[in-house]
Amino acid sequence: MWDFFETVRHRHSIRKYQTDTPVEEEKLNAILEMACAAPSAGDLQAYHITVVRSEGIREQLAAAASGQQFIAEAPVVLVFSADPVRSAERFGERGATIYALQDTTIAATYVQLAVVAAGLSSTWVGEFDERRVRELLELEADRVPLSLLSIGYPAETGELSPRRPLNEMVSWR
Ligand SMILES: Cc1cc2nc3c(=O)[nH]c(=O)nc-3n(C[C@H](O)[C@H](O)[C@H](O)COP(=O)(O)O)c2cc1C
Repeated sequence: MWDFFETVRHRHSIRKYQTDTPVEEEKLNAILEMACAAPSAGDLQAYHITVVRSEGIREQLAAAASGQQFIAEAPVVLVFSADPVRSAERFGERGATIYALQDTTIAATYVQLAVVAAGLSSTWVGEFDERRVRELLELEADRVPLSLLSIGYPAETGELSPRRPLNEMVSWR
């Protein structure tokens, strides 16, 4: 079992999956539980996660994501959608436009790291037709799909991408 720092450092996008190795239900549930461990504004957890195993829907999701075929090939795709109405009920405009999006993104981040800790791989996908995804998954009209995570056992090693030096993004006062 890796420690937290190793897990974060090891994570990198994988876009080729072992298509004949399913993701175990138990593992997937343990990964999804990590979304609940994430902080959220007012502890409202203003998001919804759709677990997609259906090959037909994965294919349509890939089509809705500019034809990014690895989405269809991954045995599982998780779709993270913000629930702005839930957050707005407590926090008004700021809840709808900021907190719900942050809640959703943090939950997806926790899940993406849990995927690594569980020995699986993923890619975060942001490029997709939001309306088409909402339609495909029969999401309520006020839900905002923000990210797709394609998940599976890796069929490539991939590599760690270079990063900007820390001092370009950090200032100290
Ligand atoms: C907001 C966001 C949107 C992204 N959208 C896509 C995408 O549509 N397709 C894709 O292949 N990768 C996508 N990525 C993955 C990035 O390309 C990847 O994380 C980045 O190049 C760094 O590489 P690494 O994940 O291997 O560290 C996205 C990542 C983020 C955070």
